[in-house]
Amino acid sequence: MNLQKYQRYIRERVDEARYQHSLDVMEAMVRAASIYGLDANQARLTGLLHDAEKNSTTINMLQEIQRCNPKLLNDLPEYCYVPTFLHGRAAACTLPRDLGIDDPQILDAIARHAGDADLSDLSLLTRCIHVADMTAPTNKFQGIKKLSDLFFGGKLDEAHLLLSHYILDSCPGLGIPIHPSWKRNMKLLMKRVGQVPQNFFSRD
Ligand SMILES: [Fe+2]
Ligand SMILES: [Fe+2]
Repeated sequence: MNLQKYQRYIRERVDEARYQHSLDVMEAMVRAASIYGLDANQARLTGLLHDAEKNSTTINMLQEIQRCNPKLLNDLPEYCYVPTFLHGRAAACTLPRDLGIDDPQILDAIARHAGDADLSDLSLLTRCIHVADMTAPTNKFQGIKKLSDLFFGGKLDEAHLLLSHYILDSCPGLGIPIHPSWKRNMKLLMKRVGQVPQNFFSRD
């Protein structure tokens, strides 16, 4: 794999902070690969490339998707046509063309790395990039250590549940619409995980 070529591509495409974030998430995904049994190369590339379109405009993201693979919008209500949900889908369109990335598992994980699909439709790779994305040290939110400890401690369901709570808790205040699958997944994960400690959802 020509990792340098991919790194150069990302460096030219996003701002410096986003580039550092991409390297951090790549590293987190390599760690996740050994914990959760992912293919290391798929994990590395998914981490490095997941935010390739993050610095694009909303209209460009949307046009890219509509031109190349409009089906990617099928599971996205129109009120969710915002960068949070569009940038991954747009990257799944530009990466095959620009870098020849054609691995459907990598592209699917990048398209839905906001975790915006029903749990049964999220692959292990997609769930890992969804959580790993938020554990990158470039993110500075309260509760990140708790999330990282669960994720790198091999507790993916618990980490995904905690992240779902953080997302549902903070998105309205950030003006980010709630994707319907986030609520459904939170409920399913609560059932799957079962009893949690009393302070599980606190950010301390
Ligand atoms: Fe992203
Ligand atoms: Fe990211």
